[in-house]
Amino acid sequence: LPEELVDAFGRQIRYLRLSVTDRCDFRCVYCMAEEMTFLPRREVLSLEELEQVAAAFVDLGVRKLRLTGGEPLVRRGIVDLARRLGRLPGLEELVLTTNGSRLAAMAAPLRDAGVRRLNISIDSLRPERFRALTRTGDLARVLEGIEAARAAGFERIRLNSVILRGRNDDEVVELVSFARERGLDIAFIEEMPLGAIEEHNRREAFISSADLQERIASHFALEPLGDPAGAAGPARRFRIAGTDSAVGFISPHSNNFCHLCNRVRVTVEGRLLLCLGNEHALDLRELLRRPQGDPFALHRAIADAMARKPERHHFSHGDEPEIVRFMNATGG
Ligand code: GTP
Ligand code: 5AD
Ligand code: SF4
Repeated sequence: LPEELVDAFGRQIRYLRLSVTDRCDFRCVYCMAEEMTFLPRREVLSLEELEQVAAAFVDLGVRKLRLTGGEPLVRRGIVDLARRLGRLPGLEELVLTTNGSRLAAMAAPLRDAGVRRLNISIDSLRPERFRALTRTGDLARVLEGIEAARAAGFERIRLNSVILRGRNDDEVVELVSFARERGLDIAFIEEMPLGAIEEHNRREAFISSADLQERIASHFALEPLGDPAGAAGPARRFRIAGTDSAVGFISPHSNNFCHLCNRVRVTVEGRLLLCLGNEHALDLRELLRRPQGDPFALHRAIADAMARKPERHHFSHGDEPEIVRFMNATGG
Protein backbone atom coordinates (compact mmCIF):
# COMPACT_ATOMS: atom_id res chain seq x y z
CA LEU A 1 0.00 0.00 0.00
CA PRO A 2 1.46 3.44 -0.87
CA GLU A 3 2.16 5.70 2.12
CA GLU A 4 1.51 8.88 0.21
CA LEU A 5 -0.66 10.12 -2.62
CA VAL A 6 1.21 11.79 -5.46
CA ASP A 7 -0.31 12.83 -8.77
CA ALA A 8 1.14 12.82 -12.28
CA PHE A 9 2.46 16.37 -11.78
CA GLY A 10 4.37 15.49 -8.61
CA ARG A 11 1.84 17.16 -6.31
CA GLN A 12 1.48 15.46 -2.96
CA ILE A 13 -2.12 15.17 -1.77
CA ARG A 14 -2.27 15.63 1.98
CA TYR A 15 -5.63 17.38 2.32
CA LEU A 16 -9.12 15.91 1.92
CA ARG A 17 -12.26 18.04 1.73
CA LEU A 18 -15.10 15.78 2.79
CA SER A 19 -18.65 16.90 2.11
CA VAL A 20 -21.10 15.54 4.69
CA THR A 21 -24.32 16.80 3.09
CA ASP A 22 -25.53 18.58 -0.04
CA ARG A 23 -28.27 20.28 2.00
CA CYS A 24 -28.16 23.78 3.33
CA ASP A 25 -30.44 26.16 5.18
CA PHE A 26 -29.24 29.03 2.95
CA ARG A 27 -29.51 29.38 -0.82
CA CYS A 28 -26.58 31.69 -1.64
CA VAL A 29 -27.08 33.18 -5.08
CA TYR A 30 -23.64 32.08 -6.37
CA CYS A 31 -23.94 28.54 -4.99
CA MET A 32 -27.43 27.25 -5.66
CA ALA A 33 -30.38 27.82 -7.89
CA GLU A 34 -33.47 29.05 -6.09
CA GLU A 35 -35.22 25.70 -6.53
CA MET A 36 -32.94 22.79 -5.74
CA THR A 37 -33.63 19.12 -5.23
CA PHE A 38 -31.42 17.35 -2.75
CA LEU A 39 -30.14 13.80 -2.78
CA PRO A 40 -32.36 11.02 -1.48
CA ARG A 41 -31.09 9.35 1.69
CA ARG A 42 -29.92 6.09 0.08
CA GLU A 43 -27.55 7.99 -2.21
CA VAL A 44 -25.87 9.72 0.70
CA LEU A 45 -22.94 8.12 2.51
CA SER A 46 -23.77 7.06 6.07
CA LEU A 47 -21.70 8.39 8.97
CA GLU A 48 -19.90 5.03 9.06
CA GLU A 49 -19.14 5.22 5.35
CA LEU A 50 -17.85 8.78 5.70
CA GLU A 51 -15.54 7.60 8.45
CA GLN A 52 -14.32 4.66 6.36
CA VAL A 53 -13.48 7.00 3.50
CA ALA A 54 -11.66 9.46 5.76
CA ALA A 55 -9.71 6.64 7.43
CA ALA A 56 -8.55 5.29 4.07
CA PHE A 57 -7.26 8.73 3.04
CA VAL A 58 -5.45 9.17 6.33
CA ASP A 59 -3.83 5.74 5.87
CA LEU A 60 -2.67 7.06 2.51
CA GLY A 61 -0.91 10.10 3.96
CA VAL A 62 -3.67 12.69 4.20
CA ARG A 63 -2.92 14.94 7.20
CA LYS A 64 -5.65 17.56 7.00
CA LEU A 65 -9.37 16.97 6.79
CA ARG A 66 -11.94 19.69 6.18
CA LEU A 67 -15.63 18.95 6.69
CA THR A 68 -17.80 20.87 4.23
CA GLY A 69 -21.23 20.67 2.62
CA GLY A 70 -23.72 22.03 1.69
CA GLU A 71 -23.83 23.20 5.25
CA PRO A 72 -22.06 20.53 7.33
CA LEU A 73 -23.86 21.47 10.54
CA VAL A 74 -27.27 20.44 9.18
CA ARG A 75 -26.06 16.81 9.01
CA ARG A 76 -27.41 14.89 11.98
CA GLY A 77 -24.60 13.30 14.01
CA ILE A 78 -21.95 15.72 12.76
CA VAL A 79 -20.44 16.37 16.21
CA ASP A 80 -19.96 12.65 16.88
CA LEU A 81 -18.54 12.17 13.41
CA ALA A 82 -16.07 15.00 14.03
CA ARG A 83 -15.04 13.42 17.31
CA ARG A 84 -14.37 10.09 15.65
CA LEU A 85 -12.47 11.63 12.75
CA GLY A 86 -10.40 13.75 15.12
CA ARG A 87 -9.08 10.53 16.65
CA LEU A 88 -7.83 8.98 13.39
CA PRO A 89 -4.18 8.17 14.01
CA GLY A 90 -1.98 10.24 11.73
CA LEU A 91 -4.48 13.03 11.11
CA GLU A 92 -2.91 16.36 12.09
CA GLU A 93 -5.74 18.77 11.52
CA LEU A 94 -9.51 18.60 11.53
CA VAL A 95 -11.19 21.80 10.31
CA LEU A 96 -14.64 22.80 9.11
CA THR A 97 -16.27 25.35 6.80
CA THR A 98 -19.74 26.60 7.79
CA ASN A 99 -22.30 29.28 7.03
CA GLY A 100 -22.49 30.00 10.75
CA SER A 101 -26.26 29.66 11.09
CA ARG A 102 -26.06 26.94 13.74
CA LEU A 103 -22.83 27.85 15.43
CA ALA A 104 -24.40 29.59 18.40
CA ALA A 105 -25.35 26.16 19.74
CA MET A 106 -22.71 24.04 18.03
CA ALA A 107 -19.42 25.95 18.29
CA ALA A 108 -18.51 24.69 21.75
CA PRO A 109 -19.42 21.03 21.06
CA LEU A 110 -17.41 21.11 17.82
CA ARG A 111 -14.37 22.54 19.56
CA ASP A 112 -14.72 19.92 22.24
CA ALA A 113 -14.94 17.22 19.57
CA GLY A 114 -11.53 18.25 18.26
CA VAL A 115 -12.23 20.68 15.40
CA ARG A 116 -9.27 23.06 15.49
CA ARG A 117 -10.12 25.82 13.03
CA LEU A 118 -13.29 27.18 11.45
CA ASN A 119 -13.96 29.04 8.23
CA ILE A 120 -17.24 30.96 8.46
CA SER A 121 -18.90 32.49 5.39
CA ILE A 122 -20.19 36.04 5.63
CA ASP A 123 -20.74 38.15 2.53
CA SER A 124 -22.34 41.24 4.03
CA LEU A 125 -22.78 43.00 7.37
CA ARG A 126 -26.10 44.57 6.33
CA PRO A 127 -29.10 42.43 7.29
CA GLU A 128 -31.17 43.04 4.16
CA ARG A 129 -28.32 42.57 1.82
CA PHE A 130 -27.22 39.46 3.69
CA ARG A 131 -30.72 38.10 3.24
CA ALA A 132 -30.71 38.90 -0.48
CA LEU A 133 -27.35 37.19 -1.05
CA THR A 134 -28.22 34.07 0.94
CA ARG A 135 -31.94 34.20 -0.02
CA THR A 136 -32.91 32.75 3.40
CA GLY A 137 -30.12 33.67 5.83
CA ASP A 138 -30.46 35.68 9.02
CA LEU A 139 -27.41 37.87 9.67
CA ALA A 140 -28.11 38.22 13.40
CA ARG A 141 -27.88 34.46 13.90
CA VAL A 142 -24.60 34.27 12.01
CA LEU A 143 -23.17 37.10 14.11
CA GLU A 144 -24.19 35.20 17.25
CA GLY A 145 -22.53 32.14 15.75
CA ILE A 146 -19.29 34.04 15.19
CA GLU A 147 -19.32 35.23 18.80
CA ALA A 148 -19.93 31.69 20.05
CA ALA A 149 -17.03 30.47 17.92
CA ARG A 150 -14.73 33.14 19.33
CA ALA A 151 -15.71 32.17 22.86
CA ALA A 152 -15.18 28.45 22.16
CA GLY A 153 -11.40 28.82 21.76
CA PHE A 154 -10.74 27.69 18.18
CA GLU A 155 -7.09 28.05 17.19
CA ARG A 156 -8.01 30.25 14.28
CA ILE A 157 -11.23 31.53 12.72
CA ARG A 158 -11.34 32.79 9.15
CA LEU A 159 -14.24 34.59 7.54
CA ASN A 160 -14.96 33.87 3.86
CA SER A 161 -16.58 36.48 1.64
CA VAL A 162 -17.51 35.84 -1.98
CA ILE A 163 -17.50 39.32 -3.52
CA LEU A 164 -19.87 40.17 -6.38
CA ARG A 165 -19.64 43.46 -8.27
CA GLY A 166 -22.57 45.72 -7.51
CA ARG A 167 -23.85 43.49 -4.69
CA ASN A 168 -21.27 43.66 -1.90
CA ASP A 169 -18.02 44.97 -3.35
CA ASP A 170 -18.52 48.26 -1.50
CA GLU A 171 -18.27 46.39 1.82
CA VAL A 172 -14.77 44.96 1.65
CA VAL A 173 -13.20 47.60 3.89
CA GLU A 174 -15.98 47.19 6.49
CA LEU A 175 -15.56 43.42 6.37
CA VAL A 176 -11.82 43.75 6.97
CA SER A 177 -12.46 46.10 9.91
CA PHE A 178 -14.98 43.66 11.33
CA ALA A 179 -12.45 40.83 11.16
CA ARG A 180 -9.60 42.90 12.50
CA GLU A 181 -11.55 44.20 15.50
CA ARG A 182 -12.29 40.60 16.47
CA GLY A 183 -8.85 39.11 15.83
CA LEU A 184 -10.13 37.01 12.93
CA ASP A 185 -8.71 36.34 9.47
CA ILE A 186 -10.70 37.01 6.33
CA ALA A 187 -10.53 35.70 2.76
CA PHE A 188 -12.12 37.29 -0.30
CA ILE A 189 -13.13 34.79 -2.96
CA GLU A 190 -13.67 35.26 -6.69
CA GLU A 191 -16.82 33.41 -7.65
CA MET A 192 -16.34 30.10 -9.46
CA PRO A 193 -18.74 29.00 -12.21
CA LEU A 194 -20.28 25.80 -10.89
CA GLY A 195 -23.81 25.01 -11.98
CA ALA A 196 -26.08 27.17 -14.12
CA ILE A 197 -27.88 29.79 -12.05
CA GLU A 198 -30.49 31.60 -14.08
CA GLU A 199 -31.06 34.95 -12.51
CA HIS A 200 -27.37 35.52 -11.70
CA ASN A 201 -24.88 36.72 -14.33
CA ARG A 202 -21.43 35.64 -13.26
CA ARG A 203 -19.60 37.61 -15.89
CA GLU A 204 -21.18 40.86 -14.75
CA ALA A 205 -20.67 40.01 -11.09
CA PHE A 206 -16.96 39.38 -11.48
CA ILE A 207 -14.57 41.67 -9.66
CA SER A 208 -10.90 40.81 -9.43
CA SER A 209 -8.97 40.33 -6.22
CA ALA A 210 -6.53 43.00 -7.41
CA ASP A 211 -9.34 45.59 -7.31
CA LEU A 212 -10.32 44.57 -3.81
CA GLN A 213 -6.75 44.53 -2.63
CA GLU A 214 -6.27 48.07 -3.85
CA ARG A 215 -9.32 49.30 -1.95
CA ILE A 216 -8.25 47.53 1.20
CA ALA A 217 -4.66 48.71 0.93
CA SER A 218 -5.81 52.33 0.94
CA HIS A 219 -7.15 51.76 4.48
CA PHE A 220 -4.83 49.16 5.98
CA ALA A 221 -1.12 48.44 5.58
CA LEU A 222 -0.84 44.90 4.17
CA GLU A 223 2.35 42.88 4.64
CA PRO A 224 2.79 39.79 2.42
CA LEU A 225 2.61 36.52 4.35
CA GLY A 226 3.90 33.18 3.14
CA ASP A 227 1.89 30.00 3.37
CA PRO A 228 1.72 28.39 6.77
CA ALA A 229 4.38 25.65 6.79
CA GLY A 230 3.32 22.62 4.81
CA ALA A 231 -0.18 23.96 4.30
CA ALA A 232 -0.21 25.75 0.97
CA GLY A 233 -3.74 26.88 0.16
CA PRO A 234 -5.34 28.82 -2.64
CA ALA A 235 -5.31 32.10 -0.69
CA ARG A 236 -2.61 34.75 -1.25
CA ARG A 237 -2.25 36.15 2.23
CA PHE A 238 -1.27 39.43 3.89
CA ARG A 239 -0.99 40.48 7.49
CA ILE A 240 -2.71 43.68 8.54
CA ALA A 241 0.29 45.55 9.95
CA GLY A 242 0.35 45.67 13.72
CA THR A 243 -2.32 42.97 14.17
CA ASP A 244 -2.40 39.23 13.84
CA SER A 245 -5.26 39.21 11.41
CA ALA A 246 -4.58 37.97 7.89
CA VAL A 247 -6.38 39.05 4.73
CA GLY A 248 -6.40 36.47 1.94
CA PHE A 249 -7.45 36.53 -1.70
CA ILE A 250 -8.66 33.38 -3.44
CA SER A 251 -8.48 34.24 -7.10
CA PRO A 252 -9.25 31.32 -9.37
CA HIS A 253 -9.68 33.73 -12.31
CA SER A 254 -6.95 36.27 -11.77
CA ASN A 255 -4.22 34.20 -10.10
CA ASN A 256 -4.22 30.49 -10.82
CA PHE A 257 -2.97 28.43 -7.88
CA CYS A 258 -3.39 24.93 -9.32
CA HIS A 259 0.32 24.14 -9.45
CA LEU A 260 0.28 24.18 -5.62
CA CYS A 261 -2.80 21.99 -5.32
CA ASN A 262 -2.55 19.59 -2.38
CA ARG A 263 -6.16 18.44 -2.11
CA VAL A 264 -8.99 16.32 -3.43
CA ARG A 265 -12.67 16.23 -2.51
CA VAL A 266 -15.18 13.53 -1.70
CA THR A 267 -18.82 14.44 -2.24
CA VAL A 268 -21.53 13.14 0.05
CA GLU A 269 -22.49 10.68 -2.69
CA GLY A 270 -19.03 9.21 -2.37
CA ARG A 271 -17.63 10.62 -5.59
CA LEU A 272 -13.93 11.31 -5.36
CA LEU A 273 -13.51 14.56 -7.29
CA LEU A 274 -9.93 15.00 -8.36
CA CYS A 275 -10.34 18.72 -9.16
CA LEU A 276 -12.99 21.31 -8.34
CA GLY A 277 -12.97 22.54 -11.92
CA ASN A 278 -13.06 19.24 -13.82
CA GLU A 279 -15.40 16.27 -13.92
CA HIS A 280 -12.76 13.55 -13.36
CA ALA A 281 -14.20 11.42 -10.59
CA LEU A 282 -14.24 7.95 -9.07
CA ASP A 283 -17.28 6.29 -7.48
CA LEU A 284 -16.16 5.27 -3.98
CA ARG A 285 -19.70 4.49 -2.83
CA GLU A 286 -19.94 1.59 -5.22
CA LEU A 287 -16.68 0.21 -3.79
CA LEU A 288 -17.84 0.76 -0.21
CA ARG A 289 -21.13 -1.03 -0.79
CA ARG A 290 -19.88 -3.92 -2.91
CA PRO A 291 -18.77 -6.94 -0.83
CA GLN A 292 -14.99 -6.99 -1.04
CA GLY A 293 -12.49 -9.82 -0.91
CA ASP A 294 -9.65 -7.32 -0.66
CA PRO A 295 -9.71 -5.23 2.55
CA PHE A 296 -7.62 -2.58 0.82
CA ALA A 297 -9.66 -2.30 -2.39
CA LEU A 298 -10.77 1.22 -1.42
CA HIS A 299 -7.21 2.28 -0.64
CA ARG A 300 -5.90 0.94 -3.92
CA ALA A 301 -8.64 2.57 -5.98
CA ILE A 302 -7.96 5.95 -4.34
CA ALA A 303 -4.22 5.68 -4.87
CA ASP A 304 -4.67 4.68 -8.53
CA ALA A 305 -7.07 7.57 -9.16
CA MET A 306 -4.38 10.17 -8.39
CA ALA A 307 -2.79 9.53 -11.78
CA ARG A 308 -5.93 11.08 -13.30
CA LYS A 309 -5.92 14.32 -11.31
CA PRO A 310 -6.09 17.13 -13.89
CA GLU A 311 -3.36 19.73 -14.03
CA ARG A 312 -5.69 22.69 -13.49
CA HIS A 313 -9.16 24.13 -13.82
CA HIS A 314 -10.09 26.23 -16.85
CA PHE A 315 -12.76 28.46 -15.32
CA SER A 316 -13.83 31.20 -17.69
CA HIS A 317 -16.61 33.72 -18.00
CA GLY A 318 -18.24 32.03 -20.99
CA ASP A 319 -22.01 31.81 -21.26
CA GLU A 320 -22.34 28.26 -20.00
CA PRO A 321 -20.60 27.00 -16.89
CA GLU A 322 -18.51 24.03 -18.01
CA ILE A 323 -19.10 22.38 -14.63
CA VAL A 324 -22.73 21.36 -14.26
CA ARG A 325 -22.61 20.31 -10.62
CA PHE A 326 -23.45 23.02 -8.12
CA MET A 327 -21.06 24.07 -5.38
CA ASN A 328 -23.29 22.64 -2.64
CA ALA A 329 -23.08 19.21 -4.26
CA THR A 330 -19.33 19.56 -4.73
CA GLY A 331 -18.04 20.37 -1.28
CA GLY A 332 -16.62 23.86 -1.70
P1 GTP B 1 -7.65 26.20 3.82
O1 GTP B 1 -7.97 24.82 4.17
O2 GTP B 1 -7.29 27.02 5.02
O3 GTP B 1 -6.71 26.35 2.66
O4 GTP B 1 -9.06 26.80 3.40
P2 GTP B 1 -9.76 26.78 2.00
O5 GTP B 1 -9.68 28.15 1.46
O6 GTP B 1 -9.25 25.68 1.19
O7 GTP B 1 -11.25 26.38 2.45
P3 GTP B 1 -12.69 26.99 2.35
O8 GTP B 1 -13.61 25.86 2.59
O9 GTP B 1 -12.83 28.15 3.26
O10 GTP B 1 -12.86 27.48 0.87
C1 GTP B 1 -12.73 28.81 0.48
C2 GTP B 1 -12.86 28.91 -1.03
O11 GTP B 1 -11.72 28.33 -1.64
C3 GTP B 1 -14.09 28.22 -1.58
O12 GTP B 1 -14.66 29.03 -2.56
C4 GTP B 1 -13.48 26.99 -2.19
O13 GTP B 1 -14.28 26.52 -3.24
C5 GTP B 1 -12.16 27.50 -2.66
N1 GTP B 1 -11.19 26.42 -2.85
C6 GTP B 1 -10.70 25.59 -1.92
N2 GTP B 1 -9.88 24.70 -2.49
C7 GTP B 1 -9.86 24.97 -3.81
C8 GTP B 1 -9.22 24.36 -4.94
O14 GTP B 1 -8.50 23.40 -4.84
N3 GTP B 1 -9.48 24.90 -6.16
C9 GTP B 1 -10.29 25.96 -6.32
N4 GTP B 1 -10.48 26.44 -7.54
N5 GTP B 1 -10.91 26.54 -5.28
C10 GTP B 1 -10.71 26.06 -4.06
N1 5AD C 1 -17.62 30.35 -6.04
C1 5AD C 1 -16.76 30.60 -5.02
N2 5AD C 1 -17.01 30.31 -3.74
C2 5AD C 1 -18.16 29.72 -3.48
N3 5AD C 1 -18.68 29.30 -2.32
C3 5AD C 1 -19.88 28.74 -2.58
N4 5AD C 1 -20.16 28.79 -3.88
C4 5AD C 1 -19.11 29.41 -4.48
C5 5AD C 1 -18.80 29.74 -5.81
N5 5AD C 1 -19.63 29.48 -6.84
C6 5AD C 1 -17.98 29.49 -1.05
C7 5AD C 1 -18.87 29.72 0.15
C8 5AD C 1 -18.02 29.21 1.30
C9 5AD C 1 -16.97 28.34 0.64
C10 5AD C 1 -16.92 26.97 1.13
O1 5AD C 1 -17.27 28.34 -0.74
O2 5AD C 1 -19.20 31.06 0.33
O3 5AD C 1 -17.38 30.26 1.98
FE1 SF4 D 1 -25.23 27.07 1.80
FE2 SF4 D 1 -22.64 27.62 1.68
FE3 SF4 D 1 -23.98 27.23 -0.56
FE4 SF4 D 1 -24.46 29.41 0.90
S1 SF4 D 1 -22.51 28.86 -0.13
S2 SF4 D 1 -26.01 28.06 -0.01
S3 SF4 D 1 -24.20 28.70 2.93
S4 SF4 D 1 -23.61 25.71 0.99
